[in-house]
Amino acid sequence: MAIPTTRVNEPADIQINTSLCSGCGLCVEVCKDFSLVIKNGKVSINENPVFGCIACGHCMAICPNGAIKISGRTLDETSLFEIPSKKEMPDYKQIMALFQWRRSIREFLDKDVEDEKLQKILNAAVTAPMGLPPSDVRVLVFRGKEKSKAFAFDFVDYLQSFKYLTSNWFLSLMKPFWGKENDELFKGFVRPMMNIYTKGKAEGNNYVNYDAPLLLYFYGSPYSDPADPLIAATYSMIAAESLGLGSCMLGAVHPLIQNGNKAAKFREKWGIKYKSREGLFLAIGYSKVKYKAGISRSFASIDYVS
Ligand SMILES: Cc1cc2nc3c(=O)[nH]c(=O)nc-3n(C[C@H](O)[C@H](O)[C@H](O)COP(=O)(O)O)c2cc1C
Ligand code: SF4
Ligand code: SF4
Repeated sequence: MAIPTTRVNEPADIQINTSLCSGCGLCVEVCKDFSLVIKNGKVSINENPVFGCIACGHCMAICPNGAIKISGRTLDETSLFEIPSKKEMPDYKQIMALFQWRRSIREFLDKDVEDEKLQKILNAAVTAPMGLPPSDVRVLVFRGKEKSKAFAFDFVDYLQSFKYLTSNWFLSLMKPFWGKENDELFKGFVRPMMNIYTKGKAEGNNYVNYDAPLLLYFYGSPYSDPADPLIAATYSMIAAESLGLGSCMLGAVHPLIQNGNKAAKFREKWGIKYKSREGLFLAIGYSKVKYKAGISRSFASIDYVS
């Protein structure tokens, strides 16, 4: 048995070239599956690993002698690439400048995002850490504002069948079961949001994804860690910013297209392959607006364990 995903469900194969192995133990140290052990001064395969090789590739990437090769679970020796030199790394000040430049952008110029930039965003996003390799994140790409609009308006129509969710009778009924916080969220957030989406559509305005010239939906599978699509979306947002694009994360659609037959039909219609515990849309485009100041933020708390 190996860790299952929608892509693979076998452990990867470990090949060791003993004649190249110096027995330094680096690969053993980084393998958190405990797939590797040193025996008689050389690395060998542990018969009792935790999961069976997950193909994280760390052993192969750290071995100074090229003595270990992993194949399977979407990985092989061609997966290794040369790390850029340290000089090419942005320093903290440069990273902070990028973060401080970023604002959620919902006002886009009527200009498409070039395919080259889309590719760069995806290339950056795929470097994101994931719960367990290989990533089970899927990305649905809407190119052009017409596609974003069509999706948004279809979503608003779909929402009409759930209007009862925000009615007073339904909320009073549910409050004892789902608690005060959910009740407050539905009244203070979900209800007005559904209203503005519907009113917007009636007036030809898209407040779901703001007619984004490029719209990416990151979602996982029933197997994947719920955080995976969110981290990939965050990497995309940062990459988009570095390419001179504005972006905005959109959290409202995903939870509303998960449960029930209508949701399944909606997902199928738009080519969304799985329901997933978490998912996030990212609206991307050239910004029409420019902020003249940054905005300080704070966490709810930072508590130190003593
Ligand atoms: C998980 C998540 C979901 C969000 N969902 C929406 C959304 O559905 N619609 C929207 O207009 N903005 C959405 N936003 C953008 C936030 O409203 C925005 O980040 C916030 O207003 C702070 O502004 P800033 O990003 O410029 O700091 C979302 C942001 C996050 C992180
Ligand atoms: S790929 Fe990862 S899990 Fe597999 S042997 Fe190497 S370090 Fe261990
Ligand atoms: S890192 Fe390479 S050389 Fe060192 S023990 Fe592992 S396989 Fe052998």
